Amino acid sequence: MNEDLPNIVSERIQAIDIKRLAQSDEPYHPPRIMMLYGSLRERSYSRLMTEEAAKVLSHLGAEVKFFNPTGLPLVDDAPDSHEKVQELRKLSLWSEAQVWCSPERHGAMTGIMKTQIDWLPLAPIGGVRPTQGRTLALMQVCGGSQSFNCVNQMRILGRWMRMITIPNQSSVPKAFLEFEENGRMKPTPFYNRMVDVMEELMKFTILTRGRSAYLVDRYSERVESAEELSKRVNQKSN
Ligand SMILES: Cc1cc2nc3c(=O)[nH]c(=O)nc-3n(C[C@H](O)[C@H](O)[C@H](O)COP(=O)(O)O)c2cc1C
Repeated sequence: MNEDLPNIVSERIQAIDIKRLAQSDEPYHPPRIMMLYGSLRERSYSRLMTEEAAKVLSHLGAEVKFFNPTGLPLVDDAPDSHEKVQELRKLSLWSEAQVWCSPERHGAMTGIMKTQIDWLPLAPIGGVRPTQGRTLALMQVCGGSQSFNCVNQMRILGRWMRMITIPNQSSVPKAFLEFEENGRMKPTPFYNRMVDVMEELMKFTILTRGRSAYLVDRYSERVESAEELSKRVNQKSN
């Protein structure tokens, strides 16, 4: 029994036996998952939702780390050597999967959510792109009725960041009704949906992480680098 989870959940979902599932050439360390949320409020439901999701992911066998967006500057308002930017980029490079959970504000993801993504360069850092090839799960919290604006927008963002965004997603309406005073999520169908999404994220991550280099290898980029190489070689020979 996992004390961190409602009894019913820890009875019905087992830690995933990653070692058994992994093919002989695949990694079987705990999947590394970075959690992002899009609010700085003290009692933030998007943060509480990611914390609840992290408990499920840990139970399933993942290693989970959070980025706290407090103190992250606006894009181009600080150099990218800023410590919060560096922390975010390191976490993204470390991650094999990510969870993004935004509140809906004026029918859109929050600026805080978008700023975190905008600080993550698509271009390689030290030869590695910080988001490309990683799996991604999307969630949103609403103050009003259930809407899918943020998850839809973040799905586009996930594509732009060349991530493998999983099909399932979660949107919690009237989020202020869904959490106990102590910050725990109430056991409702919205909780169950979040568990579904985390379980699916684990499955996609285990199935793809060992093959992400193959999955993200692009013909047009192979052509480009062959041309660059030939330019360099020709320059040398001139
Ligand atoms: C300025 C403003 C605009 C908002 N716009 C929406 C909206 O368009 N749709 C919605 O469902 N909730 C809206 N909300 C409610 C928030 O989504 C809700 O309070 C949410 O819990 C905030 O996220 P947090 O708890 O993580 O800070 C808005 C709240 C504020 C303050």
